[in-house]
Amino acid sequence: MMDQLEQLQEIFEKYPVEEALKQTTDLFPGRVKFSTSVGQEDQVLTDIIARNKIPVDIFTIDTGRLFNEVYETIEKTRARYKINIDIYFPQADAVEKMVSGHGVNLFYDSVENRQTCCGIRKVEPLNRALKDASVWITGLRASQTEHRSHIPVVEWLEDKKIYKINPLLHWSFDDIINYINKFSVPYNPLHDKGFVSIGCAPCTRAIEPGEDPRAGRWWWEVSHKECGLHLVK
Ligand code: ADX
Ligand code: SF4
Repeated sequence: MMDQLEQLQEIFEKYPVEEALKQTTDLFPGRVKFSTSVGQEDQVLTDIIARNKIPVDIFTIDTGRLFNEVYETIEKTRARYKINIDIYFPQADAVEKMVSGHGVNLFYDSVENRQTCCGIRKVEPLNRALKDASVWITGLRASQTEHRSHIPVVEWLEDKKIYKINPLLHWSFDDIINYINKFSVPYNPLHDKGFVSIGCAPCTRAIEPGEDPRAGRWWWEVSHKECGLHLVK
């Protein structure tokens, strides 16, 4: 008999995203969660989930440092699709201790500080959000980073004890934009101002045409372009 990993892999190889997501929720009823940053890829997934009424729980992490445009996009999305988006916050006491001890903008001072901040504001709420889930859906795409170009569509994460599925992994940037235009999907207005990959406000800037799509994330650091949400330790 096929194990669940093989079963999921086959489903995502064989069927279009919409059908594959439906079958995933049949296999794991009430245990499929989608993390959205309301970035362009995530908005495509939200549209697929909402228009087809696929029973996936959608959540976002409010790090406390997001652009106002992100909040506006969350609200536009809730209104447009009449869906619930669960919001997870970092633990208040951990944030208080961190910013009191190291300053509110500690991330500019060292990579270590930046990782501490991402750990408290993003990774801990993510792990809490996924605690009761069996499947984690993301909007990762292979062409976004070198690391992401090597990951599979479906994988088992031993540390989180969860199946992680990246249904749009092999979509190109143009595929995403074409989908957004075709279905008039609401999107973050910052995308029209040179912002491609959007994270927290103090850690994201617009990029010039031709620059690496993630050049605007933690731009003062030379190497790391991942915050830890998608890195296995
Ligand atoms: S990050 O790791 O660099 O911040 P990126 O912005 O590329 O991630 O987004 C990749 C995927 O991570 C998204 O498709 C989404 O599934 C998840 N993600 C990123 N930021 C958030 C957030 N604030 N809330 C929920 N999920 C997020
Ligand atoms: Fe903190 Fe910046 Fe990471 Fe956001 S992206 S959690 S502000 S270091």
